[in-house]
Amino acid sequence: MKVFLIGFMGSGKTTLGRKLAARMNYEFIDLDHVLEKQVELSIAEYFTLFGEPSFRKLEAEVLRKTPYPENAVISTGGGLPCHSDNMEWIKANGTSIYIKLSPKTLADRLEAGKEERPLLQDKHGDALITFIENKLNEREAFYSQANIIVDGLSLTAERLQDILSAVR
Ligand code: S3P
Repeated sequence: MKVFLIGFMGSGKTTLGRKLAARMNYEFIDLDHVLEKQVELSIAEYFTLFGEPSFRKLEAEVLRKTPYPENAVISTGGGLPCHSDNMEWIKANGTSIYIKLSPKTLADRLEAGKEERPLLQDKHGDALITFIENKLNEREAFYSQANIIVDGLSLTAERLQDILSAVR
């Protein structure tokens, strides 16, 4: 089974994904890291050098060309499901879980660690919350196509594993 974790930046896809994969004895793949390794640049550096449209093209390619093992938990960049028919591809190739959180909770989590996230670099306080609200409004239509939607507050890998075994 291939499990794709989707959701906004700061929703816990990477942290929960790594723990979930360990519990299930699955391989863990972080597509942002795959992309960074491929271009030998951090995502922030890539954005600065080549811009967002080029990044989006590349992330769609990485999604499709990564050699996935039979069983894997895959964490995706927050914008990935929302362009280039990527959500269609994910639905055709795996089980998707949307980790859902409110803009306020996301903003609290994202206030630290913004340097790594080029889309957030110049945003603070209310401007950060407004930015997240607007982006989530655009993205919700894609995220909500996931097979499973879970509340990300106090979410644990154990709970994710329980949810997955219930749908299998
Ligand atoms: C992005 C999310 C990031 C990364 C890039 C763009 C987005 O991934 O792909 O900075 O558009 O939401 P995370 O969701 O893992 O932070």
